[in-house]
Amino acid sequence: MELVKSFHFKANPDQCIHCGRCVASCSSVILYFDEQGVPKMKAEADGIVGWDGCYRCQHCLAVCPTGAISIFDKDPKDSLLPEEGANARQLEALMRNRRACRRYQDREVPREEIDQMLRLLENVPTGSNLQTLGFNVVYRKAEMDKLRKLVREEAFRLAEQGIYPGSFTKSDWEKQLEWEPGRNPGDMFFVNAPHILVIHSQRGRGQWQTDPVLAAAWFDLICASHGLGSIIMSYPVGALSHMPEVEKLLQIPQDRYYSLILGFGYPEYPYARGVQREGIAQIKELTF
Ligand SMILES: Cc1cc2nc3c(=O)[nH]c(=O)nc-3n(C[C@H](O)[C@H](O)[C@H](O)COP(=O)(O)O)c2cc1C
Ligand code: SF4
Ligand code: SF4
Repeated sequence: MELVKSFHFKANPDQCIHCGRCVASCSSVILYFDEQGVPKMKAEADGIVGWDGCYRCQHCLAVCPTGAISIFDKDPKDSLLPEEGANARQLEALMRNRRACRRYQDREVPREEIDQMLRLLENVPTGSNLQTLGFNVVYRKAEMDKLRKLVREEAFRLAEQGIYPGSFTKSDWEKQLEWEPGRNPGDMFFVNAPHILVIHSQRGRGQWQTDPVLAAAWFDLICASHGLGSIIMSYPVGALSHMPEVEKLLQIPQDRYYSLILGFGYPEYPYARGVQREGIAQIKELTF
């Protein structure tokens, strides 16, 4: 059980209109009304993080229509307000048109822009709201080129010993070699992406195998919203699984978990339109 001093839950009685939304929305059911009808946090829950206390979801601060609630010393005025209107259309366009990018321009995305995109990931939902995610980034293409070279050299050395990336067979490997010049010239592993992002979680805590995958899906869309190309990759993870010394360069401690690597950068050939999918194969209404 994680303990902190106090969550500083405060409801301003002058702003509270006693609508009950905060009490009804509290993920941990630890809010109640005092005799004046103003919400309070149960004393026994204050300072306890998790199932026995507060989820730290901030739903109380977020749901209050008048902005009466502060928790964790956050001022509700500093929260972003939902925007009416165009959001659904814009999100649909991003989701429909995002595509895996395997051709990148030979230039870097500015560090400030990468940081701006990464900051959005603090909003990714995580199991039990544990927020254990960490983000290891290659900001500089020159560094990426060093990693690219090392992984490639080691993969070819291992292949000579009959060890292939992940669970690849000899013929899978030969197929990759055949494809590489046309598909990812010189870099079948990181597809020449100028940057990579490795999202990792604390092994054994909450939904540790799912949370990084969800964050990866978000980052992929965030890249699309910035006009960048991106690609979610498991192949380099498979390759690195056989080369522990090279893998150490990613600086993922033993107690942390990752299963994907994201590549991103300016696309060489931006997609001009979406693809035309055949529709979701199975939507089944459940009735009971
Ligand atoms: C992989 C995963 C599993 C989750 N499982 C549950 C669940 O079984 N029940 C539930 O009420 N919430 C579940 N959640 C929701 C999280 O608790 C919630 O996203 C988190 O507290 C953050 O709140 P937010 O989504 O409002 O930011 C899950 C979230 C994730 C990402
Ligand atoms: S942060 Fe979430 S769990 Fe904690 S008091 Fe607010 S609504 Fe309840
Ligand atoms: S949501 Fe806000 S206005 Fe409604 S009861 Fe809670 S503090 Fe009062």
